[in-house]
Order: sequence, then C-alpha cells, then structure tokens
Amino acid sequence: MVTIREEKFADIAAREALLDEAYGAARFTKTSERLREGRLAADGLSLVATHNGRLVGTVRLWNVTAGPGRAALLLGPLAVHQAHRNRGIGSALMRRAIARARLAGHYAIVLVGDAAYYGRFGFSAAATGALWMPGQFDRDRLLALELKSGALAGALGMIGAAGRRAPTPDLAALVARDGHGERTRVRRARAA
Ligand SMILES: CC(C)(COP(=O)(O)OP(=O)(O)OC[C@H]1O[C@@H](n2cnc3c(N)ncnc32)[C@H](O)[C@@H]1OP(=O)(O)O)[C@@H](O)C(=O)NCCC(=O)NCCS
Repeated sequence: MVTIREEKFADIAAREALLDEAYGAARFTKTSERLREGRLAADGLSLVATHNGRLVGTVRLWNVTAGPGRAALLLGPLAVHQAHRNRGIGSALMRRAIARARLAGHYAIVLVGDAAYYGRFGFSAAATGALWMPGQFDRDRLLALELKSGALAGALGMIGAAGRRAPTPDLAALVARDGHGERTRVRRARAA
C-alpha cells in the first residue's frame, strides 16, 4: 500500500539515496539547487511516499521570491523510485503538495521541469516570461502555478532563495570537544 506523509528526520538517508538514483550527481549542479542549498524546506511541505514502509517517492517545496518582494514556493526535486513509476505516485505527491501549499496560504509555486509532465497539475510558462533563475535554465522549463489568482501578475526579476537557513554545525565546538576527548584518552593511557 502506498502512503503519502510528511517527511521525518529518519527518512533523509533513504530520500537522498532515491535522489542519487533518480538524478545522479548532476543534481547538485542544477540551478534550482542554488535556491535550496543551505536552506530548510518550507514548513510542512516535505513529503514522502512509502510502499509497505519503504520510501519510494519524495517531493519538497522551498520558500523563494519570484522577483523582489513576491513570496512563492519552488517545487523540487520530485522523484519516484524506478520500480514504482507509472502507478500514480508522482501525481499523488504533486497533488498533495499543491493542496498543502494552498491550505498553508502560499501564493504560487514555480519549478524547473518538463511541461509535458507538470502541465497536468496546472503548471505552465505563461506567468514566468519575465522571471529568471540565478544561473543557466531553459526558459520553456521554468513553469508556475498560481495558488491565488493573479499572484504572479507582473512578476519580474530573479527568483531568489528565501527559506530559513539550515543550522550549520559549530565547527569550533566540535574541534574543542574532539580535542578534549583526545586529551582524556592520552591522560587515561598515561595513567594505565
Ligand atoms: C517524473 C516522475 C516523478 C513521475 O513519477 P511517476 O510516479 O511515474 O508519475 P505518475 O505515475 O503520476 O505519472 C506517470 C505519467 O507521467 C508521464 N511522465 C513521466 N515523466 C515524464 C516527463 N518527464 N515528461 C512527460 N511525461 C512524463 C509518464 O509517461 C506517465 O504518463 P501516462 O500517465 O500518460 O501513462 C518519475 O518518472 C521520476 O522520478 N523520474 C526521474 C526524475 C525526474 O525526471 N523528475 C522530474 C521530471 S521533470
């Protein structure tokens, strides 16, 4: 049975393995990644699909600005495990993500992807003609869906990262702790 639910901390390793399988190392060089790196996904908008408890699908949305001062979400990456494709799991993830974003009061979703796939969920390039990404992108793959009518009317400018910053490890504290551990080990070895 397939279940769609919010991602948990314990899902991260399986999600990353799935994304490696679906996109390969090139996923880190995508321009969309520039809007995600170092940021947390939008609250409540990281979803996974599980089949008999195993993670088989993932989608996340990220806070961005669609031109200065215009709040929006960036969708991606979306992936479904190869062995589970063409059974509606990608569509179920998309529909649930869109519904949750709408319910949470978001205005619009942008993404870079195939119009032939995302068109079925209402995405098109109609409102993105004057928006651009912070790097290389195919203009006909920059798509958007308005969650509130007119949300992207006149949208103009760079799509920018706006998510909360992911906590970075306190390296100084880690080094100090490690140094303390090393000193303790040396003291114990000398005393033995
Ligand atoms: C794209 C992806 C998430 C779809 O997941 P899925 O669970 O197979 O999707 P669904 O079962 O809901 O839909 C399958 C339909 O989408 C179509 N489809 C899948 N990828 C497509 C694409 N890139 N362009 C056009 N149609 C596509 C399938 O041919 C199928 O068509 P049908 O309904 O007419 O038979 C999955 O194929 C995947 O993970 N691909 C690799 C990563 C990727 O390319 N992601 C982003 C796409 S831009």
